[in-house]
This record gives sequence, structure tokens and C-alpha cells, in this order.
Amino acid sequence: MSKSDFILELKDLRTYFPVRKFLQKKFVKAVDGVSFQVRRGETVGLVGESGCGKSTIGRTIMRFHNPTGGRIIFDGDDITACDMKPYRKRMQMVFQDPYSSLDPRMTVGDIVGEPLDIQYPNMSKAERHDRILEQIHLVGLNSEQLSRFPHEFSGGQRQRISIARAMVIKPEFMVLDEPVSALDVSIQAQIINMLMDLQERMGQAFLFIAHDLAVVRHISKQVVVMYLGHVMEINESEDLYRHPLHPYTQALLSAIPVPDPNTSRARKREVLVGDVPSPIDPPKGCVFCTRCKYATEVCREQAPQIEDVGGGHLVACHHFREI
Ligand SMILES: Nc1ncnc2c1ncn2[C@@H]1O[C@H](COP(=O)(O)OP(=O)(O)OP(=O)(O)O)[C@@H](O)[C@H]1O
Ligand SMILES: [Mg+2]
Repeated sequence: MSKSDFILELKDLRTYFPVRKFLQKKFVKAVDGVSFQVRRGETVGLVGESGCGKSTIGRTIMRFHNPTGGRIIFDGDDITACDMKPYRKRMQMVFQDPYSSLDPRMTVGDIVGEPLDIQYPNMSKAERHDRILEQIHLVGLNSEQLSRFPHEFSGGQRQRISIARAMVIKPEFMVLDEPVSALDVSIQAQIINMLMDLQERMGQAFLFIAHDLAVVRHISKQVVVMYLGHVMEINESEDLYRHPLHPYTQALLSAIPVPDPNTSRARKREVLVGDVPSPIDPPKGCVFCTRCKYATEVCREQAPQIEDVGGGHLVACHHFREI
């Protein structure tokens, strides 16, 4: 029996990077108090503009960065500061840039086999070969491609190789960092459908990172919207898409064309102006206040608490009821 309904829980997670600015030691507050959960076998989408801390969350969960504060709970175990060796078999990450994350001198067979070599060094050659072959077929590649090198593949195929590599040890949880952002729309749909099929077959949970809400809509049960290291809104994917409450989520959704006229009419058009402020000196109060057209004095003074508005829909905004 499993220890917890959640395969992953983040509690007030913080990851700061030390930097020097004008001879002063400062911190990039890449992730600054993030809490959410991922249920076993389900997908949570994590979205937000470039630089808002998505990859840093993924890397911190994997403990490639040590968190500055907060807790990471994996299957009921606190893994915030523990030795990660026993957990490496159970969680894997597909990195944002599939080209630089695949060793150009290794064949696809060896790339996909490497996690088996690390985690199961005593596995027989025959079993290793079978596992690699099975995984390669599952991601839609074929056995002739095993002896080829990464540069001989298209972007979509390289992404399939990265996914095969992460899945070959059958992890229970995977961070997929923008697995389709560099691909064109038809290939994006192919990869997302493939991931959904694999998930149904093997039952892993995914944290699926993207900057576009449309991409995560179908694959995610829940979506977490982030801005400048903070969570702005969390809701079930379809509800979030239909009834975004946070001005930032509304703005993100405005950028997506909607085929359904009812949804389109109901949705407020927002255009985000200005750049994301620096995470070294984030705005006081609500981090979104410098770009929010609803911002008032209270927003500039006081950070809003994230609030449950019913049914697990969470919003961090002083004014969402009035807009
Ligand atoms: N190792 C590091 N040292 C210092 N700052 C870093 C480091 N890694 C990330 N950052 C900073 O942390 C912030 C968040 O970066 P992160 O890569 O997590 O963003 P992201 O949401 O994944 O963006 P993108 O959509 O462009 O991938 C950025 O301001 C980035 O410059
Ligand atoms: Mg990133």
C-alpha cells in the first residue's frame, strides 16, 4: 500500500541563487514560497513566462539544486536534504533542451541504456537489450535507429529519445521540462498523445512544464500558474481554462485563440505590458503589481495570501472578486 495519495508535495519551497551586484551579495529568488501537490498517476501542468522559475522548481525537486527553504515530500518521505540515491530510480527528468542534454558521441541505444547501467549495474546484457528495445518502440522509434547518433534525428525524434531515456527505468514520477516547446504544433500533439498513452499504460505521475496554457490543457489534471517565483493560481485544467480568476492567468489565456465562441465571449481580453521584473529585486507586495491593471495600494504594500475559493481552486490576488 502506498504511503500517501500524493507522489509529490512541495511545501513553501524556496530556491535562491547567490549573485554579486555592484559588489554586493544578492540573491536571485528563482522560486520563492511554492506549494502544490502531484497525485499518483496524474499530470500537473506548470506554466508561466520565461524566467519565472519553472525549470528551477523541476531541478530542485530532483535535488540538482538544494532548496534554500521549504520541504519536498516524495511518496510521503521528506527528501529535502536526504541522500537521493534510493530515489533516483523512482524519479526522472526530461531536460528542457533535448539537443544539449543528449551526448552527441553516444548512440541512441547507449543513451537510453545509460540509466539502466547506473541503476541496475548487474542487469544481464540480454535483459538490458530487451528493455531498451521495448522502450524505443514505446516512444515510436525503431530498432534500426539504436545505432544512430543524436544529430541524425529530427527535433521531435530527439525528444522521443530523451523521454525513452527517462522512462527506461520505469520511474513513478517524471519532470518533463518543456518537452514540446521547440516543436511545431502537429509534432507537439503527437508527443503529448504519446505521453498520455505511456502514462495510461505505466501509471507514472508527470510534472509537465510549459510556458503556454494551451499546451498543458489536455494532458494536465491540474495546472499551476507561476509568476516570478510565486504561484498565482491553481485549478483543475478545464476549469482554469474556462474561468481564470487571477489577472495574470487571464492575460496568459488572452494570448491563445479560442475556437469556442461562448468561451471566447466570456473571456476578458488582456494584454500584458512591460517586462517581467528582476527576481533579484522583485516588487514589494504582490510580485505581479507592476504589470497588473487592477493593482491598488494594498497590492503594492502587501503580498496576497493564496486562498482556496472552493473545490481546490487556489488564487493569490487581493482583488479577484471584483474583476
Ligand atoms: N544556476 C543559476 N544561477 C543563477 N541564477 C539562475 C540559475 N538558474 C536559473 N537562474 C535564474 O532563475 C530565474 C528562473 O530561471 P528558470 O530557468 O527556472 O526559469 P524558467 O521559468 O524555466 O524559464 P524558461 O521558460 O525560459 O525556461 C531566472 O531569473 C534565471 O536567470
Ligand atoms: Mg525553463
